[in-house]
Amino acid sequence: MEEIQQSVRKIQAAILTASDRSARGEREDLSGKVIEEIAWSNGWEIVCYGVVPDDKETIKVELIRLADNVKADLVLTTGGTGLAPRDFTPEATLEIIEKEVPGIAETMRMESLKKTPHAMLSRAVCGVRGKTLIVNLPGSPRAVRECLEVILPVIPHALQLMQGEVSDCGTTLRINK
Ligand code: MTE
Repeated sequence: MEEIQQSVRKIQAAILTASDRSARGEREDLSGKVIEEIAWSNGWEIVCYGVVPDDKETIKVELIRLADNVKADLVLTTGGTGLAPRDFTPEATLEIIEKEVPGIAETMRMESLKKTPHAMLSRAVCGVRGKTLIVNLPGSPRAVRECLEVILPVIPHALQLMQGEVSDCGTTLRINK
């Protein structure tokens, strides 16, 4: 019997943690580890992992490098989405994306509100640069897990759309209740 060979490219994901303390080596980056664990369990390939201080220009440079040079399909940031004086991840992201995808960030907040009212304090944004989807996640390991769980089902379709691989959305994921 003829064997049908199907080559499915793994999603190439990059992790970027924004944290002054982790960048100085004062705190272990547990949130980056949670992203890594979830990425592995979903069969994604981690093409880059980095920790940067909460500095807007540094975050921008790294996001541009991950999208334009590394050409990651997906960049997941963690940290710096709140209201603290040095929380700049959403501003850095907004300045380098070409299209915003508000629905992803809105849905993370909406679902997170069912777990904690503090979810409304995350200003996370999500958007597209070239063929890279950039998603801000809040900084705590628990928040990372809760937010990623919400958006995992739409990531493959989002990436297919960005890569021009979908011409008809009619047959995609439906939720029957
Ligand atoms: N979202 C979820 N799902 N779970 C959480 O525990 N923590 C919130 C919020 N979003 C949280 C969450 C808190 S306490 C803050 S201050 C904001 O994310 C911003 O976090 P950050 O500044 O670490 O990015």
